[in-house]
Amino acid sequence: MTGAAPLHQGGAVCVRVFRVTVRLGDFEVLKGVSFDVPAGASLAVVGPNGAGKSTLVKVILGLVAPLEGTVAVFGERPGANPGRVGYVPQLKTFDRTFPATALELVATGLRREWPGRVRSGEREQALAALRRVGAEQLAIRPLARLSGGELQRAYLARAFVRRPELVLLDEPATGVDYLAERDIYDLLEEYQADSGASVVMVTHDLTAARYHADRVLVLNRTARGFGLPEEVLCDECLEDAFGHKHHGHGPRV
Ligand SMILES: Nc1ncnc2c1ncn2[C@@H]1O[C@H](COP(=O)(O)OP(=O)(O)O)[C@@H](O)[C@H]1O
Ligand SMILES: [Mg+2]
Repeated sequence: MTGAAPLHQGGAVCVRVFRVTVRLGDFEVLKGVSFDVPAGASLAVVGPNGAGKSTLVKVILGLVAPLEGTVAVFGERPGANPGRVGYVPQLKTFDRTFPATALELVATGLRREWPGRVRSGEREQALAALRRVGAEQLAIRPLARLSGGELQRAYLARAFVRRPELVLLDEPATGVDYLAERDIYDLLEEYQADSGASVVMVTHDLTAARYHADRVLVLNRTARGFGLPEEVLCDECLEDAFGHKHHGHGPRV
């Protein structure tokens, strides 16, 4: 473990995860995981498949309860302030044949359900959110006719629609091409600079973690490293977490 100094000494903490253990069925998915996300900072969570990354995001959302340990978001229990938290889920769980438009998808960020009919106030907010991610022209497009990158933009708009102070993203760039991936990180950084929001993003892209996060958590059931990208994205730490060498990322130690 790397003991990084807090980003904002004495500053507010947005997410505090303390000695969290999660069991799903007979399987201990997370064990004794602790870290903080200072307000306004971005954290990348990296680790191999099955490491518990998505589960950790669900714990912060309040969708999965820890067996042990505590989690606080804005100093309160997870899930207590849904309007202050935006979420971009892992894409592969999404049914692309669902008959809805991009605008309706964004509106689910306001209502937390599929709207039978989008009210005019919701429509304005959803359009403004799409505009912010440069995707207003997608508003009436059916989801089935969006590319991977376009769908991800719609999901970003949905996550931003209530101007959240915390944005959680689960593998936001998986399945999109290089340009779309760059756009996603640029849009995220733009939103963060504009709003001062905190970000927690799961990625298995170590380069993205290095360039787009203030802090990195290396996770494989337990926290294998937590600190500045250049401190924890070293061969030794990654080998420990992934169980094999990762070439081309990070300095040797
Ligand atoms: N509902 C569940 N019941 C039992 N095991 C689960 C459940 N959900 C996830 N798991 C297991 O927990 C582990 C971590 O899953 P997940 O958090 O999705 O990992 P990651 O996102 O890092 O790939 C995996 O081994 C997965 O099979
Ligand atoms: Mg996952």
